[in-house]
Amino acid sequence: MNKKYLKMLTYGCQMNFSDAERMEGELEKLGYISTEDMAKADLIIINTCCVRETAEDKVYGKIGEVKGLKRTKPDLIFGITGCMAQKEGEHLIKRAPHIDFVLGTNKIHEVVSTVQKLEQSLTKHVVDTEINEAEMPENVSIHRKTALTAWIPIMYGCNNFCTYCIVPYVRGRERSRLPQEIIAEVQDAVKQGYKEVTLLGQNVNSYGKDNSKTTFAQLLQMVDQVEGIERVRYMTSHPKDLSDEVIEVIKTSKHICRHFHLPVQYGSNKILKAMNRVYTVESYKALIEKIRRAVPDSSITTDLIVGFPGETEEDFNELLEFLQEIRYDQAYTFIYSKRSGTPAAEMDNQVEDKVKHDRLNRLMELQNKISLEKNMQLNNSVLEVMVEGPSNNDEKVWSGRTDTNKLVLWPYNGHEKPGDIVNVRICQPQTWVLKGELE
Ligand code: SAH
Ligand code: SF4
Ligand code: F3S
Repeated sequence: MNKKYLKMLTYGCQMNFSDAERMEGELEKLGYISTEDMAKADLIIINTCCVRETAEDKVYGKIGEVKGLKRTKPDLIFGITGCMAQKEGEHLIKRAPHIDFVLGTNKIHEVVSTVQKLEQSLTKHVVDTEINEAEMPENVSIHRKTALTAWIPIMYGCNNFCTYCIVPYVRGRERSRLPQEIIAEVQDAVKQGYKEVTLLGQNVNSYGKDNSKTTFAQLLQMVDQVEGIERVRYMTSHPKDLSDEVIEVIKTSKHICRHFHLPVQYGSNKILKAMNRVYTVESYKALIEKIRRAVPDSSITTDLIVGFPGETEEDFNELLEFLQEIRYDQAYTFIYSKRSGTPAAEMDNQVEDKVKHDRLNRLMELQNKISLEKNMQLNNSVLEVMVEGPSNNDEKVWSGRTDTNKLVLWPYNGHEKPGDIVNVRICQPQTWVLKGELE
């Protein structure tokens, strides 16, 4: 059989990266080998995200690039998968007829049969964006690409309908995988050499609520006990249903990381209500206090959106005060992006672009200051770091993460291997990284 090459481009969140690993694993059954080189590929798949307009713009740019390649290589097969595929469906092919297939977010296990049909020219185009919630992609091959952590989806979809967000429309309703399937996948990952897993879901705290057999706290306990596992992470937690049991399990477990990513999105009750986030500033603060009391040395990170419709200077100042009070280790900050079909897109008082950018800058300035102050407290301390490998910019400088998910860099000494735990003395804390030396 001739070698066939696959170029997969993935945008968006970890769930999309996990889907990509599954599609690549499945396509190996047809003889496809991954390549980084788009020009060499016989099959190109863009696995897309549509959470913000900027994510979509990038994809349209790439779709244009592939058009030229198809002209010189007519047998090239070109597909779009992921959230934009789900949202746009056949519109994508109307707009760009050089696309051969569009598969929605619930169809990753159909990538093999789809590509086969196209290889044999049994059909000209395939478009399938049906979301059948009973259908889950079990028993698929996985081509894992990460060095440090194995992505393990525990549930798909979202039921929360935050008013700005497109995800519930493109990922469907919440459905949980069976605990035994998850544990088996964790065990497989450990067998492959992974010492860390990250459990994925849009809202992991509601794991099991759709089939009410195992709660997220119980699942964490089960994963914590898998032999050979050293670190367990999970994302993302919705603050409205982070239970006391989960906090208790994290407090008492051996391997669950002391890192809470708890996206608050905003710091004023008026905006939180308009966003349909369900909690209040007060209940969120109480939750943070509870976490800090139970697990004092944990880190806490968040996501924030500025420029939501109706946001005034007064609201924004409330947000800044809120940040000063909570003092997150890190915050991922976004400018509100209007997503058609969501309630917030129809709201009056959309905020002007210039104002949004100005607020984002002020927000980042404050959070960067706080992040740096928090990291400065770690100066001169010795931290346990799981080795990932050479850093992006310098082969001689290696990187890894603490269990609180802080990125650490140190000069490579020739002996450490990915997955090892090393002790690093921090000597140069910065806003986004801690630089140090091996002890
Ligand atoms: N399920 C996860 C988030 C998935 S999207 C959660 O609820 O935490 C990741 C982040 O993108 C969100 O936390 C939010 O901060 C941001 N986001 C979602 N929709 C957005 C929009 N329309 N504009 C800007 N940021 C958005
Ligand atoms: Fe989007 Fe809200 Fe669901 Fe997160 S919880 S995916 S922000 S709707
Ligand atoms: Fe994007 Fe879909 Fe994830 S919209 S953020 S890839 S769930």
